[in-house]
Amino acid sequence: MRVISECTEDLIKRAAQALSDGNLVVFPTETVYGLGADAVNENAVARIYSVKGRPIDHPLIIHISSINGLTDWANEIPGYAIKLARSFWPGPMTLILPKKSLAKSFVTGGQGTVGLRVPAHPLALELLKQFERSGGKGVAAPSANRFGAVSPTTVEAVNDELGSYLATEDLVLDGGQSKVGIESTIIDCRGSNPVILRPGAVTVQMVEECTGTIIDLNQRSNTIRASGLLERHYSPRAQVLLGEKAEAGDGFIAMVSVKTPDGAIRLTSPTNMEEYARDLYIGLRMADQQGLSRIIVKSPEGEGLASAIRDRLNKAAFGK
Ligand code: TXA
Ligand code: MG
Repeated sequence: MRVISECTEDLIKRAAQALSDGNLVVFPTETVYGLGADAVNENAVARIYSVKGRPIDHPLIIHISSINGLTDWANEIPGYAIKLARSFWPGPMTLILPKKSLAKSFVTGGQGTVGLRVPAHPLALELLKQFERSGGKGVAAPSANRFGAVSPTTVEAVNDELGSYLATEDLVLDGGQSKVGIESTIIDCRGSNPVILRPGAVTVQMVEECTGTIIDLNQRSNTIRASGLLERHYSPRAQVLLGEKAEAGDGFIAMVSVKTPDGAIRLTSPTNMEEYARDLYIGLRMADQQGLSRIIVKSPEGEGLASAIRDRLNKAAFGK
């Protein structure tokens, strides 16, 4: 594995070539880092699953450089999905649509749908453009962590997660810390109305305003498989406890206005919701680096991004 920290145009071209050659390229996005492979290359996609340790029936999101690529992959695209794509791409939103034959079952986990996203990070967009210029159709990329673990938002975190699983030919592009910090909003676009499968920085209210529909948050289709929907996910090694009293030696996460309990170790002190999302996974990782056994978290209150943060915290805390 080679880390490229100064991503010049020439080096991005080489990274695009590495994808065409069937290698893996870890790239930054505005949400979290992605572990990318040519989405039509079965062997390359199989390597994603083995490097992540992920069950093969969990579908991957395909990343494209613009809305123009949508019709290469998806069929029967409803009007509201076009509106969403026009409003929020490039950005932290994934659309689930009926697939075309280009989307093979090895990338869709055997489902009849495909997940598509145009990421907003300039390096990701440049990589996708270069890849498409040389004939590529899209880059399949899950978050660049081992299955069930916390998504990486920095190159150091990518290295901790996958450093010992990537091959010498694989590349890692350093694009700094991810600005959003939690994974994209996933929207099921198969029906007459959008259904939010995973909340994110494109909020319920934004989807409602854009499409003129009311989102029913309890309407989660069970015929669809999103691993982010598993109850336990996004977990550090330390136990995550929500709203409990912190003891000396515990890690502690809360808004800056909440005082650190005596003897607890402050992991992050966000001043607003954007900072809470951006720094959350860094805080969870810090606890593991310091060998802490418990992280006490005061979940943020409110709707929008706060509810997406609570979704991740509830999953990180589940079952431990
Ligand atoms: O922000 C993100 O979405 C990041 C960056 C790298 O783009 N990617 C990401 O990928 O979080 P991953 O694989 O860690 O989570 C994507 C989720 C998974 O839970 C997967 O099951 C779901 O999206 N998904 C992908 N394609 C799907 C499909 N066709 N139907 C249902 N769920 C799908
Ligand atoms: Mg993931």
